[in-house]
Amino acid sequence: MLPGESGRVQPVFPGVGPACEVPWDDLRVPDAPNTQNDRSPRSPAESPAQTRADGRTVLPAARRESAFLAACRRRPVPHTPVWFMRQAGRSLPEYREVRGGIPMMEACARPDLITEITMQPVRRYAVDAAIFFSDIVVPLKAIGIDLDIKPGIGPVIADPIRDAAGVDRLRPLQPDDVPYATEAIGALIGELGDTPLIGFAGGPFTLASYLIEGGPSKNHERTKAMMYGEPELWARLLDRLADIAIAYLKVQVEAGARAIQLFDSWVGGVSPADYRASVLPHSSRIFSALEAYDVPRIHFGVGTGELLGLMGEAGADVVGVDWRIPLDDAVRRVDAGKALQGNLDPAILLAPWDVVARRTREVLAQGRTAEGHVFNLGHGVLPATDPGVLARVTDLVHEESAAR
Ligand code: CP3
Repeated sequence: MLPGESGRVQPVFPGVGPACEVPWDDLRVPDAPNTQNDRSPRSPAESPAQTRADGRTVLPAARRESAFLAACRRRPVPHTPVWFMRQAGRSLPEYREVRGGIPMMEACARPDLITEITMQPVRRYAVDAAIFFSDIVVPLKAIGIDLDIKPGIGPVIADPIRDAAGVDRLRPLQPDDVPYATEAIGALIGELGDTPLIGFAGGPFTLASYLIEGGPSKNHERTKAMMYGEPELWARLLDRLADIAIAYLKVQVEAGARAIQLFDSWVGGVSPADYRASVLPHSSRIFSALEAYDVPRIHFGVGTGELLGLMGEAGADVVGVDWRIPLDDAVRRVDAGKALQGNLDPAILLAPWDVVARRTREVLAQGRTAEGHVFNLGHGVLPATDPGVLARVTDLVHEESAAR
């Protein structure tokens, strides 16, 4: 925290000019190469740190830590970072164009398309992070589960898993099963330059639900029936899914992803007690397995207001919040030492701009009560969203937070 800023938990620096008024040691990333978020071509050697009259070291732009990684680590930021879940996807005409006629699962296995689609929103918006273009069911397909992603529906599993023999079909994932992920991330790291790439995997409850129900489900009833009624089978299933998530996340981080997000999108239907007993141990194992990589770990689910504290406890550094509870409320629900991500209702983006701007400012204000805040939506970008509005929201978040 900056001297004189003690009243604010997440200091946001005035001015995002060519240099940022931060004590050098506060922002230097010890072991990271000089690949921070500023796209300035200058190298640190060309623009050394300067000591100001007041004795503070002014950090050259090229040595600044990415605003996204800094916020995840609850460190000072030049502006509140922003990215959008599903920033790549049907809201973008260029996405619809490259995807034209190519099935989703095929696109997810082609390094050229993964790279192109991941880059599309980064070219359009001044977002502070990219998210790897893939899907939570890609590693399941990679180990031989017969599934497809049907447009307008989602993942559909040919032969749902409902017994021990089914669970045994889930073999461990090897890096060789997803060569396209490694190849695409290698290419992306070069193209992205200073913008960090977020890798991701599906959380154990959500993947279990797709596998057990055979497709999208409103009430997850067969899934919960197994969780309540066959706890040993459930634990074996989630153990295997956790191993698959760990392997898929390790592939992404080892290839160059600089943060990870575990999407347990549908876990919000589980009570806190059942979450603690039947889901948390598995999520916790996933986060622990990633600990040594020292990349921020984000955890998100929809409708998880009552689970936020536990999702932090599972080992996330950043807890994702949907739009149902304000961020200042979420702050009170998670332990100290966590950053928050969220939480503009994606449907707000379909309203007139003055409403979007007012609601964006509200999220920013509520986010200031958190130790670190990454601006995002409360769930994915809706296909009907105007990309121009996302561009304006990105700029508004940056301007508004940098000016404070
Ligand atoms: O930009 C990004 O966020 C990265 C790409 C991404 C996709 N899926 C691409 C995708 C990510 C992070 C996911 C994760 C994912 N997939 C989740 C967790 C996030 C969430 O939304 O809660 C879930 C639950 C899935 C399962 C899934 N895959 C659904 C529900 C759907 C939507 C079905 C539809 O057509 O409405 C998909 C398909 C999918 N995954 C699309 C994209 C861009 C749409 C495919 C298309 O273009 O037709």
